[in-house]
Amino acid sequence: MAILRNLFRKKSIDVSAEQAEASEMKRTLNAFDLTALGVGCIIGTGIFVLTGSAAARFAGPAIALSFVIAALVSLFSAFSYAEMSTMIPIAGSAYSYTISSLGELFGWIIGWDLMLEYLVGASTVAVGWSAYVVGFFADAFKVNFSKATTGTPLSYTDEKFVRVEGAYINIPAIFICLAVTTILVVGIRESATVNTVVVFIKVLVVILFITGAAKYVDTNNLKPFIPKNEGGSKYGAIGVIRGAQRVFFAYIGFDAVSTAAQEAKNPQRDLPLGIILSLLICTGLYIATSIVLCGIMPYTKLDQPNPMTYALRAHSGTRWLQILVGVGAVAGLTSVILVLLLSQPRLFMAMANDGLLPPMFSRLHPKFKTPFYPTILGGVITAVLSGFLPVDLLGDMTSVGTLFAFFFVNVSVIIFRHVDPHRHRAFRVPLGPYIFPVLGSIIAILLIVISGKSTIIRLVAWMGIGLVVYAFYGYKHSKLPEFQNQSVVQPKGHEEQYSV
Ligand code: ALA
Repeated sequence: MAILRNLFRKKSIDVSAEQAEASEMKRTLNAFDLTALGVGCIIGTGIFVLTGSAAARFAGPAIALSFVIAALVSLFSAFSYAEMSTMIPIAGSAYSYTISSLGELFGWIIGWDLMLEYLVGASTVAVGWSAYVVGFFADAFKVNFSKATTGTPLSYTDEKFVRVEGAYINIPAIFICLAVTTILVVGIRESATVNTVVVFIKVLVVILFITGAAKYVDTNNLKPFIPKNEGGSKYGAIGVIRGAQRVFFAYIGFDAVSTAAQEAKNPQRDLPLGIILSLLICTGLYIATSIVLCGIMPYTKLDQPNPMTYALRAHSGTRWLQILVGVGAVAGLTSVILVLLLSQPRLFMAMANDGLLPPMFSRLHPKFKTPFYPTILGGVITAVLSGFLPVDLLGDMTSVGTLFAFFFVNVSVIIFRHVDPHRHRAFRVPLGPYIFPVLGSIIAILLIVISGKSTIIRLVAWMGIGLVVYAFYGYKHSKLPEFQNQSVVQPKGHEEQYSV
């Protein structure tokens, strides 16, 4: 009985608020910075890379519809993130919401799950980065790198691994993971200004692609809009949903806005704004991009690691556009890797502060004052994954992990409206706690279910490992009982000051 009680012990929101108060993180971010942070983390491999394979293998030109479906689950969940982040404005995001709503065990499950989002997500983006760098050198300088050292040795089709002949290791992907990790360890903070500049370049390049390539659109390429099903999830309505699952990756990142809760000047107003605005801007760009992409090349040919530049190559007179798209993609993807690898140590720190991970994960480097242990560990794991695994497999893993977290955030909203109805919420999910959170949860589960048996098995296996770690470490070292009895405020200076 006592064990059961312990598994469901909850962290009080007041304790979280007290921790947030005691934190030395500077409150410097306004609504514009937060929106830029969201867009900075959202636009990446999803649109630059996965759109091609999702159109070719699953949805055809209706990939635009897949983007709409993926946007809906994201928007419904974004409402929930917004409500929770104004109620519990502390770094740690879904982990912090769940440990307060459903208790320690579920908090752990979500924390462990979010590692997938950040670490495997960063690997996914690194593989996309590598493809665009290689393509950029070919387009701009006619330099062709060997596939042996720039390719992924395994591909993943129809839930099976296939050896890619002649490819051994993806060195550019490993390089970018380690380079970003080094930057994060020595403590160069990604200032809001730098982030805004990169976001500006990225958005500009996407708009340039949409407007510059529009004149090459052949409407015949868009017909039939939903190709007839060819078995399994290849085309048809089921293909559109499978496509939504694949491109859902493109929306991951708006939740990173909520991890900056402790650095927001006016979190109550600006967090919901940042979360929802960044999502809406990206949705519009994605729908337009996917229609143009499928319009300039038959969707069957788009299964490429760098589909946007690849499709442009089929049209003479687009060399400059190819180079610009290449530069924008590389800059943009770098910022996504940076934000993901920056979010990951914050999560580890939040979990270590609650005692669920060893204290070394919240220790700062004596000179650089950065959480170097989790940063290095995360960087190395990310580098290894991206060096050998294919982008679709990594993307699917990241997506199921994130969808799982979305499910819990939606559920947390419903629970809190019941158990703590009077607490001040600066933002409330529109139309009450049922319609959007329930729809968000249902679509999240649907997209998890459709992601394929092996992806689900990998998710379950990852969670199984997590539970073993929890049983042997987290459960025994949890500080939640301590928090219930005394003030929990960490000494000032304990946490790193990030400014993103
Ligand atoms: N949404 C981000 C991307 O597409 C993670 O790269």
